[in-house]
Amino acid sequence: MDTTLPINDISDVIEADRNHLWHHLLQHKSLETNDPRVIVEGKGMRVWDATGKEHLDAVSGGVWTVNVGYGRESIADAVRDQLVKMNYFANSAGSIPGSRFAKRLIEKMPGMSRVYYSNSGSEANEKVFKMVRQIAHRHHGGRKHKILFRERDYHGTTITALSAGGQPQRAAQYGPYTPGFVEVPHCLEYRNQYPDAADYGIAAANAIEDVILREGPDTVGAICLEPITAGGGVITPPQGYWERVQEICAKYDILIHIDEVVCGVGRTGEWFGYQHYGVKPDFVTMAKGVASGYAAISCTVTTEAVFDMFKDDAADPMGYFRDISTFGGCAAGPAAALENMVIIENEGLLANTNAMGARLMDNLYALQDKHRVIGDVRGKGLFVGAELVSDRTTKEPVDEKMVQAVVADCMAQGVIIGATNRSLPGLNNTLCLSPALIATPDDIDQITASIDRALTAVFS
Ligand SMILES: Cc1ncc(COP(=O)(O)O)c(C=O)c1O
Repeated sequence: MDTTLPINDISDVIEADRNHLWHHLLQHKSLETNDPRVIVEGKGMRVWDATGKEHLDAVSGGVWTVNVGYGRESIADAVRDQLVKMNYFANSAGSIPGSRFAKRLIEKMPGMSRVYYSNSGSEANEKVFKMVRQIAHRHHGGRKHKILFRERDYHGTTITALSAGGQPQRAAQYGPYTPGFVEVPHCLEYRNQYPDAADYGIAAANAIEDVILREGPDTVGAICLEPITAGGGVITPPQGYWERVQEICAKYDILIHIDEVVCGVGRTGEWFGYQHYGVKPDFVTMAKGVASGYAAISCTVTTEAVFDMFKDDAADPMGYFRDISTFGGCAAGPAAALENMVIIENEGLLANTNAMGARLMDNLYALQDKHRVIGDVRGKGLFVGAELVSDRTTKEPVDEKMVQAVVADCMAQGVIIGATNRSLPGLNNTLCLSPALIATPDDIDQITASIDRALTAVFS
């Protein structure tokens, strides 16, 4: 079957790209001799590039974003209808889709209460950092201003989000960093730092308590954690971890901020990743899957108790949250997010995510039996990673170039997969898969068949 798309000549686009675009996360030297990749069309799970070649997208737009798949006319219609009626007003006033989406979102998040809109994951996280700092100033005499983050987690690209990031290769050369952010150890059992401990999950959580005690509990206001670490290697938490983390946070009066920028809105088979683990957060941030990339939107969601801390003294002119995000007032975001949520519900995409996620894991376990280079397979729902090692006993990571060769081989086969990229020195060795939540059994099998062929080609 010919899977190519007939397209018009767009050599002008290629030239304009080569001459004027600065792509994200790309060393551009290669574009002096190769054409840049331009994606021109998408439908369902598939995208077509400027040469007309079809690809099965196993990473939802490259960075786990297009949760409901490409070409959704109902989202485009909802956005268009909203834009011609009312496109923008600063969010100091309300909007019809903004209020409606907030209500629908909170229905999915028992215990949470308030939604603050902005337009990227980094920015949503910055809002929490500012809230925590302001709570420290207003309620703790300036103490409790420190924010803990975890080794291997990522919370965004701005200088402060990088200061809260546990991925040294993302942060390197961009310092000096924002003070007051303190790292706690990772919780990847495959790379157990506490081999003598009876229970890895408890030991990994107790390591957080050690940091709190070292810093002084009265200086620590919050901890920011991904429910499942994404770009740091798809790290699912070990048994018992979250229960113990919550005990520790309660003991020292530390607010819990869950970064759901990747896991949120169905990716893991629940509406939110933290809901698998019985976590009761104070803050939840989300972005990518909220509107599946059909519009830019991010949300910082808080409890009513947090919200109350910003309206307890109406006489204090400095006491409320003095923050604005201009494009947090764009009505296209919540209009797209509302329709995105309707699609997930109407098409039963949480159930599909669980079923297809199980199939993806099973297929990868089968590949692990066949290819010794797969050291570990981890994931939840349609959010899965396979860590590649050159030796299963020592767990020596394979050379990053080999990981990239696997990704390139899949690409040549017409399947787009991902890999940890410039996150941890020597540990960019995990293949990452996050197909849209609409994936079918055939799609899943096609993805893993392509990885099978790529591993054979690169490592045999
Ligand atoms: C867990 C996590 N948090 C935050 C961000 C930052 O989101 P954005 O790129 O929208 O600023 C990312 C981006 O990949 C992420 O993976």
